[in-house]
Amino acid sequence: MTQSPGQGQALDNLLTESRTFPPSDEFAAQANAQPELYEEAKADREAFWAKQAERLHWDTKWTQVLDWSDAPFAKWFVGGKLNVAYNCVDRHVESGHGDQVAIHWEGEPGDSRAITYAELQREVCKAANALKSLGIGAEDRVAIYMPMVPEAIFSMLACARLGAMHSVVFGGFSAEALRTRIEDSSCKLVITTDGQFRRGNPFPLKPAVDEAVAAAPSVEKVLVVRRTGSEVAWSDKDVWWHELVDGQSDVHTPEAFDSEHPLFILYTSGTTGKPKGILHTSGGYLTQASYTQHYVFDLKPDTDVYWCTADIGWVTGHSYIVYGPLSNRVTQVVYEGTPNTPHEGRHWEIVQKYGVSIYYTAPTLIRTFMKWGADIPAKYDLSSLRVLGSVGEPINPEAWIWYRENVGGGKAPIVDTWWQTETGAIMISPLPGVISTKPGSAQQPLPGIGAKVVNDEGVEVPHGGGGYLVLDEPWPSMLRGIWGDEERYRDTYWSRFGEQGFYFAGDGAKYDADGDIWLLGRVDDVMNVSGHRISTTEVESALVSHPTVAEAAVVGASDATTGQGIVAFVILRGGAGSDAGGAEAIKALRDHVAKEIGPIAKPRQIMVVPELPKTRSGKIMRRLLRDVAENRAVGDVTTLADSSVMDLISAGLQSGK
Ligand code: WTA
Repeated sequence: MTQSPGQGQALDNLLTESRTFPPSDEFAAQANAQPELYEEAKADREAFWAKQAERLHWDTKWTQVLDWSDAPFAKWFVGGKLNVAYNCVDRHVESGHGDQVAIHWEGEPGDSRAITYAELQREVCKAANALKSLGIGAEDRVAIYMPMVPEAIFSMLACARLGAMHSVVFGGFSAEALRTRIEDSSCKLVITTDGQFRRGNPFPLKPAVDEAVAAAPSVEKVLVVRRTGSEVAWSDKDVWWHELVDGQSDVHTPEAFDSEHPLFILYTSGTTGKPKGILHTSGGYLTQASYTQHYVFDLKPDTDVYWCTADIGWVTGHSYIVYGPLSNRVTQVVYEGTPNTPHEGRHWEIVQKYGVSIYYTAPTLIRTFMKWGADIPAKYDLSSLRVLGSVGEPINPEAWIWYRENVGGGKAPIVDTWWQTETGAIMISPLPGVISTKPGSAQQPLPGIGAKVVNDEGVEVPHGGGGYLVLDEPWPSMLRGIWGDEERYRDTYWSRFGEQGFYFAGDGAKYDADGDIWLLGRVDDVMNVSGHRISTTEVESALVSHPTVAEAAVVGASDATTGQGIVAFVILRGGAGSDAGGAEAIKALRDHVAKEIGPIAKPRQIMVVPELPKTRSGKIMRRLLRDVAENRAVGDVTTLADSSVMDLISAGLQSGK
């Protein structure tokens, strides 16, 4: 927490941006959100959220909106009962929309499938019956390690239907990362595929599951979807999806669960090496996912075609591919592959093909599109697009303007949505049609949400001032804890401003002169690489687990495309051999990190150094290493135990060692 907000100079540009884009009269007139929404929420917050909860079907109505008596553990819609999957699927069929397409699925090799709500209902029921036959019931944990195939969504909803908790692990994580996550929450079942298509080629996925499961005794069965048709090893735990699920009855009666019944665990990086299992529950989570989907994206279920480009392995995929959209009876595109397969216009081709009207993506991808050139989107008909979204990291004004001009036809409002795995749903964002947007600023907490920028003492800073982002009111989709670690939950989020009772988000932020909020990046040891949270300690542990490495320090250095890039400084072991710092050896270290965590954690650069800068108490001063990584003059070294260390490092790097 001693670091200054992470993204260096780009932020100075951010903060001099002053353009605003008022909504057009035409958009404002048809918008779901009206200015009164803010007033209404302010007048009576709990009544406001109760009204939002009415968006859902409850089998039993709640008796109390919020119980905060056991803070920081919230209970929302106390006494209410509902089934989350019923709310996302069955009720739309019952209201006469069974023939509406829920998912236009687009496979990377070009295969596609349109799934109506009636079909989705049948698929989810079959999957629920199959899971039940494997002994899965309420509160059991199911790991889902899959690419973006329809069965991944069926599986999540089947768990929700049974009251089982899913723990989706991003398909790009390593066997080791999967194993630790399976083990932490004792998953009974793993659902996976034989392989996945990536950049035009099939890649195996099941071998990672085999490796993880061999060391995770809690796993009783592995359910395998055939996707690539590649050869897989087979054990008695393995069951083919098509053999088990396809033959099941497509009727399943959902059971209503308590509003606070656990829905899922999703692991995210914290400031230590061990990922945190963020716990979300049912009624409050679904209420806020549904509410934000409706207002922030201005979703019109009868006419819009929505596309969120995230992977279900991240929270954005949970809340804005599965629960938010489906609870609103969306028609959406789900795309399996990478944006440049088979060509760099793939996304725009898909937008044109399906007439996508709402598109939600991450700044890192927008910057990649910028690099590929404006002539690529210009080749396609993007006139259907009417709302654009951004999430995952601060968006620089240049990228924002490029997005608006080249994707949004110079008129689609952009919603820059700030939130976290922990918040479950969007917290800060302009409401399209109501708020004049500003390139680079997420602007205002949504109606019903309390957010502030405070100084070290927890006192709100004046307009123009900067500090830490806090959330000063409980919200329905807030995390209910960290799986199996109550203390860590209190420490991580509630101790920094314990006296004030604020939730500490871990982000630096600033108010501009109008009081709009600008996010400035993480203030802890968490890096944000292409919108993915990776902790410096996690990568350090991976590096020191390699036999040639004695010590490692990792920093996030600003990167024009990925936001931050991972830069590692390593001290080699005495016996590592003269070759240990060579190109081959560095490559081996990068590959080792990919194997330990996943390719997303591969350092951009690894520098071999003789020493690391440490304080007298032994804490590594990453601030100084970031100066080196970003080619800046090294800052104040007076708190170092040995102030000559930085000279040693710089000298070593210059001599190319
Ligand atoms: C960052 C992703 C600036 C932030 C939904 C946060 C953002 C972390 C924005 C959460 C945004 C997310 N502007 N920063 N619009 N959205 N962040 O848990 O640092 O993967 O704390 O959730 O991403 O990342 P997570």
